Amino acid sequence: MAGVPQGLKGRSFTRVAAWSRDELETLLDLADELKAERARRRELRVLPGRTIGLIFHKPSTRTRVAFEVGIAELGGMALFLPAGELQLARGESYRDTALVLSRFLSALMIRTFDQEEVEEFAEHAAIPVINGLTDESHPLQALADAMTLRERFGELSGIRLAYVGDGNNVCHSLMRIAARFGMVFAAATPPGYEPDPAFVDAAMEDARANGGSIELGTDSREAVRGAHAVYTDVWASMGQDDDRARRLKDLQPYRVDAQLLALAAPDAMALHCLPAHVGEEIAADVLYGPRCLAWEQAENRLHTQKALMALVIR
Ligand code: CP
Ligand code: NVA
Repeated sequence: MAGVPQGLKGRSFTRVAAWSRDELETLLDLADELKAERARRRELRVLPGRTIGLIFHKPSTRTRVAFEVGIAELGGMALFLPAGELQLARGESYRDTALVLSRFLSALMIRTFDQEEVEEFAEHAAIPVINGLTDESHPLQALADAMTLRERFGELSGIRLAYVGDGNNVCHSLMRIAARFGMVFAAATPPGYEPDPAFVDAAMEDARANGGSIELGTDSREAVRGAHAVYTDVWASMGQDDDRARRLKDLQPYRVDAQLLALAAPDAMALHCLPAHVGEEIAADVLYGPRCLAWEQAENRLHTQKALMALVIR
């Protein structure tokens, strides 16, 4: 394979919006190459002697395992740092933690609640900081989603992507990457569960500049009509479990099932970032059926996270 482009060394990845369309495309191209190389069992050990810290304030399967496996495959070492076992849990500041960890590590991923914590880390750290999910965004997921859609449909611009359900962190990052790549993004959410208007405004501007558009509404059938891809996510995200009963009731009409998928384009695919609550936001026959890309999306977390690390870590 061609070498790893050097122009993104040192960059953090805290939000989709922080990277240009060209930069995101560079990452997706490298992820495609890494996926092909891995299938040929060829190694790309670009991180020898590097240690990457992984701070988790919330549970994770895909993000953690994709990082740990990906780092090992790139020849580096992963350091799993459960947040409750760091001095952060006893009040050490993000700034001090960032300054200290920069002396040990080559990059740092953080999964937490408040987006500002990730931004504060990135501001003070001397190493790349990667957002592994906040209440507001999930940019790593958006990378894998874009890779998966591009693999399936050949190119991203012009794809109609419907998002049905809760206007949450996954929705925000997906909307922004869709806008960056000139897709038509149509979201259907119940009243009170709309994506954050600040995200929507910025994404609309981005979509306009890239030849795409953002449509918002409350009718899932309207959003899905003619869509190439139909995406959903859980109705209660991590940290929202106290509110679960109300959310389940309000979001009930927004399940992605075979009937809804039948309104989309004939070759339309269902997507889900996982973990899923089968029978809630997605019906079992859709999730486990032939028109679902969720398992490919999960695998592509590995290739996109490897590409990101190979690009930004010095
Ligand atoms: N999709 C995703 O981020 O999964 P995990 O919570 O398992 O990391
Ligand atoms: N919206 C979900 C995504 C999990 C990967 C959550 O934040 O829990």
